[in-house]
Amino acid sequence: MTQQHTAADHQTVIGRADRHLTLTTGQRESRFHYVWLRDNCWCDDCRVTQSGERRLFTADIPDDIAPVDVRLDANQGALRVDWSDGHLSSYDLTWLDVHDYSNHEDRVHPHVTLWASTLPSVPRFEHDDVVTDSGVQMAYLQALREYGVAIVSHTPSVDGEVERFAETIGHVRETAFERVHNVRHDPKGYNVAHTPLELKPHSDLPSYHWPPSIQLLHFLVNETTGGETVLVDGWAVLSDLRRDNPAAFDTLCRVPVTFQLFSEDEDTRATAPIVQLDTAGRVQIFRFSNQLALPLDAPFDDVGDFYDAYRTLGRMIDSDQYRMVFKTTSGDLLTVHSHRVLHGRLSFDPTSGARHLQDVYMEFDDLMDRLNVLSGTHKPLPSNGGTTP
Ligand SMILES: [Fe+2]
Repeated sequence: MTQQHTAADHQTVIGRADRHLTLTTGQRESRFHYVWLRDNCWCDDCRVTQSGERRLFTADIPDDIAPVDVRLDANQGALRVDWSDGHLSSYDLTWLDVHDYSNHEDRVHPHVTLWASTLPSVPRFEHDDVVTDSGVQMAYLQALREYGVAIVSHTPSVDGEVERFAETIGHVRETAFERVHNVRHDPKGYNVAHTPLELKPHSDLPSYHWPPSIQLLHFLVNETTGGETVLVDGWAVLSDLRRDNPAAFDTLCRVPVTFQLFSEDEDTRATAPIVQLDTAGRVQIFRFSNQLALPLDAPFDDVGDFYDAYRTLGRMIDSDQYRMVFKTTSGDLLTVHSHRVLHGRLSFDPTSGARHLQDVYMEFDDLMDRLNVLSGTHKPLPSNGGTTP
């Protein structure tokens, strides 16, 4: 059964099936389940007006919920539905378009641009502007969301400045180790970061089941010969591996690896596949730290396949096709989405000058929280929300 209506300057056709309706405008067809529509009624009875929180208890929707009548109100730009449970709902067409789940692309991260070594340069922003200008802060957060990396230039080379910066844009993620971690050459230091050796691209703290998703690395001083920063878009590498060698990709999604980071007082360990997907099949966490992986303890028949896949992946990560290598300068504050982008450095000569970094961890969710608020998109109410039709 179809009905034709004219909405705005184009014609929208409503179709009804057993459990969903369709809205067809030109070549585009959107489908919405009746139960989804009923669940997302925005009237005052179904929502808390000021917050949009759901008052309707979803389980109370009748199993056989269906429209008795459905029509387009072209003047209001709304879809109006009389329901079999006696309720009347009105849906803003723009809001329906934004929330059209029948046309979203699987496996594509929204707002993300993958890059290989071809990214011309890391997006840069001035420290004072990011801290004082909400427009620049938004641009910085958008760049971080899109590329997984951004640099804040001319950050004051003051002890603890990275923590102060973190607190201006979100919250520090505490771990078992220092809240502010110092990285400098120290022959007695605990890990490879404190040597002058090359550090292959890696993500920090894979020894947590939810590793920190943001890392801030503040270069207070960087005057050595060598020590160039290396960045790799891990999601770009995995996207190519998935396309060219899906069996290897699946192996990395399946075989668990245990990572450990310890000190005199702490011992953190997590066991998880190197690649974790979200429910849409997109990469959610890329956990790569060759230096912190414990001996593989997997079913015998998986070990050969794992090493084949892992070494293929490692060669990609370490190749010029994916590595971006550049020199950071004193005052640079590198921000990395560390479930996505791997960081490392080339070896340096510790006698050639001073090199001192301070880093803290944060959570990507908190930065997107800030971006949503600055963008004014944090209130989910549709334009006609909160009004009973
Ligand atoms: Fe690191």
